[in-house]
Amino acid sequence: MRLPAKVAIVTGAASGIGLAVAKRFAAEGAAVMLADTSESAGVAAMEQIVAAGGRAKFVRLDVSRPDEVKQVVERTLAEFGDLHILFNGAGILTYGTVLETTLEAWQRIIAVNLTGAFLCSKAVLPHMVAKGRGAIVNVSSTTGSHDACAHAAAYVSSKGGVTLLTRSMAIDFAKHGIRVNAVCPGPTDTPMLRKALTPEQLDAFAKTYPMGRLGRPDEIAAAALFLASDDASFVTGEMLHVDGGQTAEV
Ligand SMILES: NC(=O)c1ccc[n+]([C@@H]2O[C@H](COP(=O)([O-])OP(=O)(O)OC[C@H]3O[C@@H](n4cnc5c(N)ncnc54)[C@H](O)[C@@H]3O)[C@@H](O)[C@H]2O)c1
Repeated sequence: MRLPAKVAIVTGAASGIGLAVAKRFAAEGAAVMLADTSESAGVAAMEQIVAAGGRAKFVRLDVSRPDEVKQVVERTLAEFGDLHILFNGAGILTYGTVLETTLEAWQRIIAVNLTGAFLCSKAVLPHMVAKGRGAIVNVSSTTGSHDACAHAAAYVSSKGGVTLLTRSMAIDFAKHGIRVNAVCPGPTDTPMLRKALTPEQLDAFAKTYPMGRLGRPDEIAAAALFLASDDASFVTGEMLHVDGGQTAEV
């Protein structure tokens, strides 16, 4: 058990990487508040964790809404009595150049991917500062932390923002005993990617990278677990690339 008696909020917990993180954190001993806009999938995920012997609750949350974010933190403290870890996993993906991206699409992706991480961090930090400890794990991306890619101007910009938000919070809260890091997944086999590309496109895409395959959500969760746990006690401001070698050759 690497998170015994810890309490974690996991956003984006109904699917993909967030779901794998919620399951792994719970298996490692944490009480987990799963938060997501998708209620039915989120409740099903919570029930699976509880059936496996874990401690978990689900709450519906749109991370771009400050009022809802505040309520989730209050509810977590009321349900579990403490809060040690925030995993900012909620995210959306749209493709397009600047010319192809509407203002509405730009604003939504920034609101969810970047402002969502800002709002959730802002809501948990007072408790973490008061306790003098805490770990925040954001999700950036290889694209946005290390390089850009074609036809994803809004997504890449949001992840670039997450990268520097991570570093800036790491610096600002290090002396309060709070560590802030990010996992930067390469292409990972989740519903997000499966919605964006056909199976044939995914296969061809994966073959362009050194390991020649997509990552699995549990492989990203293993890295998030390291960053959230005391094993990473001297790690802060880090972008941990989990990408099968993608960024080694870019
Ligand atoms: N899959 C990849 O290849 C990949 C690569 C790099 C980074 N990422 C990042 O990993 C994170 C998780 O992505 P995934 O691939 O697991 O996608 P996913 O679509 O499988 O899961 C994302 C989850 O976020 C939830 N969500 C979306 N908007 C929300 C909001 N406003 N409030 C709360 N929840 C919301 C969705 O309902 C969904 O359950 C995202 O930040 C994504 O950008 C994914």
